[in-house]
Parts: sequence; structure tokens; C-alpha cells
Amino acid sequence: MNKDLKLILVAGARPNFMKIAPIISAIKKFNNSTNLSREMQSLFHRDPSNSINYILVHTGQHYDVEMSGNFFRELELPRPDINLEVGSASHAVQTANIMVRFEEICLKESPDWVVVVGDVNSTMACTLVASKLGIKVAHVEAGLRSFDRTMPEEINRLVTDTLSDLLFTPSEDADENLLREGIPSNKIKRVGNIMIDSLVTHLERARQCKPYDRFGLKEKYYVLVTLHRPSNVDNKASLSIIMKCLTQLSEKLPTIFPIHPRTRKSLMQFGLWKESNNTKKLILCDPLGYHETIGLVNKSRFVLTDSGGLQEETTFLGIPCLTLRPNTERPVTVSQGTNRLTSLESLGQDMNKLINGCQTEGKIPELWDGKTAERIVQILAQL
Ligand code: UD1
Repeated sequence: MNKDLKLILVAGARPNFMKIAPIISAIKKFNNSTNLSREMQSLFHRDPSNSINYILVHTGQHYDVEMSGNFFRELELPRPDINLEVGSASHAVQTANIMVRFEEICLKESPDWVVVVGDVNSTMACTLVASKLGIKVAHVEAGLRSFDRTMPEEINRLVTDTLSDLLFTPSEDADENLLREGIPSNKIKRVGNIMIDSLVTHLERARQCKPYDRFGLKEKYYVLVTLHRPSNVDNKASLSIIMKCLTQLSEKLPTIFPIHPRTRKSLMQFGLWKESNNTKKLILCDPLGYHETIGLVNKSRFVLTDSGGLQEETTFLGIPCLTLRPNTERPVTVSQGTNRLTSLESLGQDMNKLINGCQTEGKIPELWDGKTAERIVQILAQL
């Protein structure tokens, strides 16, 4: 009897690619596990008669080469089997387009499971489709909560977790959130942080590429900034204050700010682009690839961000991080790691503390060990 498992893996936007790559790599290891070391064989407990087949679906939510293609190349991801090519639109239109196109794929392929990652619109849209067709959904990075429903991602997390059949969590707080919301404990599997799998795999290559050289920066003598949340960049008053703070910061420490397309649009629209781009110490550049980003984080004095992934990556690397948000769905990066929340009011003061050497000590949370994808694949294979 054929006991092969058939999965559809969904990736849509930039942070998804780092979460899907380790899962594909672990599936390949699982399928070849008769050739693996004894340690790996015992990890997979594999019945040699079954294997895992997968179809990689890219929704096309992100499509620019800097936001998608470069990540596929660097992470050695296979070309997607299917690209839904939905592109950018309002939340409703983008979500609806993904749903219409993904439903066709699910009906044609009849997978055993749809595996979704993270909290972007693609994650929620594909979960809704699979769930309504009676196809089981596994959510990787489940249980994170900012308790702030003005964030589109929080809505995506709530819907995805409510409908998922299997919830793979990165930390204890995530388990607690899900239990509080009434998710049965047997659906919750704490497997660790999938983002860290990619980081562990690619850290050496990231170190070797020394991206700071390309920008004329010196190790530990620059700040890396990434900001793209609507709450920070879609409002002229906020973005003006941010750019003023960054110009002041760059007078003290060179500052590099790779610009997300959403942020670029706002800078242009609000007439802030030329003004901000005028100083040599504040480098505004195109979005960077994965290796260059990690390479820059790893040798920065500190990182200022509103990204979820960077809060985790800085904690793993022990680099101080300021998160320009009133909350975080990743509280473990603050309670255990090097992350601190900041606001427009305290930004200047908080950055000065870090410039003056006030160090934020931290430790790496449990199960952030680079083996999360293997634990996920083992659990899926046993079902
Ligand atoms: C999305 C995710 C966010 C994630 C971020 C990472 C949602 C609700 N938001 O936000 O959680 O942190 O990705 O980057 O899913 N654009 C391009 N090229 C692209 C993609 C987008 O130019 O390849 C431009 C478009 O003008 C678009 C804007 O960027 O309107 C925003 O893109 P969108 O995917 O809607 O949201 P992000 O802000 O990227």
C-alpha cells in the first residue's frame, strides 16, 4: 500500500522563504534517510516504505527580484511548482485573489496537508481555502500574539491558528496563547524557531560576504535600520520624525537603511526621499538579500527595526536590537534576548544609550537550535 504523504507548501512574501527552505531541506533528508547517519535516522524514525512528496506554491504576493527571486537563489530553494502571481493589491483583493487561485490547486492536487508559515496575507488566505475544503492545515510559527488588532498580521495569525489542525510553535508563550484561546493541547507542538534554522545554515556564508565592505562601513561601527510596518511608514508625521532621528544618529555612527518598497513609496510620496538621501553617513539602499542582511546584522553595533524576523535573528546573534513598535508578538526576544521596544518619543535616547555602550545581555531561547524543521517533518511523517 502506498503510504506516501502529499504536502502543499505555501510561500508568499519575503519572510516566508526563510521558513520554507529548512522544511524542504528536512523533507529531502527524510526521503533519503536510509543513507543518513545513525543519529539522523533515529531522529526521523522513518518507515522505509513511505516518503513525503511536496508541491511548492508561491502566491506571488512578493514578486520583485529583491523581494523574492534573490531569496530563492540564496536559500537554494527549488523553483516553485506553481506561482499564483497575485501581486500587490488591497488586503481584500490580494487575499481574495490568492483564495480563488489556490482553491483550484487544492482541488486538482488533493494534498493530505497544506503547510503554511508565518503571518502574511498568503498564510491566512491559503489556510481559509484548505480548511473549507476539509484539507488539514499545519501552521509553522503558530501562537504568536501582539494583542494589537491594528496590525494586519495579528488578524492573519488569529484566523490561521483558529483554523489550523496542527500548530507548530516557537516558544512557551505561543503555547500559552493558544491554550488560552481554547486550542486543544494535542494540536500544539513546540518545535522551536524555524527562522533560526535558516540562520544556522547560512551564517558562515553570510559572514564570508562581508557586506559592510561594499558600503565602506567598518565592523561594529555602523547601525543597521529596517522599517516597513504601515504604522511607522504610512504616516507622514511619523516617518518625518524617524528620518530626522536617523539623520542625527548617522552623525554619531554611520547608518545603513535598506529601503522596503512600501517605505520607498512613502518617502517619495511625502517628499522625504531627497532630503534623507542627501547625507553620506545615512546610506539608503535597495532591499538586500539574505546573506548580506545577516552579514550586516552580525557585525553591526545595533539594529533598529520593526521586522519580526530581525528581532529573532539579533537575539540569536547576541546583537542589541531596538524594535520601533509599542508591542511585540515575540516577547521572548525581550525577556530572554537582546531586543528592547522603543517609541518615537524615546528613540533618540534609546539609541544614544546603545551608542554609549550600554549593552543588552541576552541568551538564546530553548529549541532555537537549527533543528526545528527536522522536528516538524518527523511529526508530519508520523501522522
Ligand atoms: C508584507 C507582510 C508583512 C511582512 C512584509 C515583509 C502582509 C499583510 N504583510 O508586508 O507581514 O512583514 O511583507 O516584507 O502580508 N511591493 C513591491 N514589490 C514586491 C512586493 C511589494 O514593490 O515584490 C510594494 C507594492 O507597492 C505593495 C507594497 O510594496 O503595495 C506592500 O507590499 P505588501 O505585500 O502588500 O505588504 P508588505 O508591506 O510588503
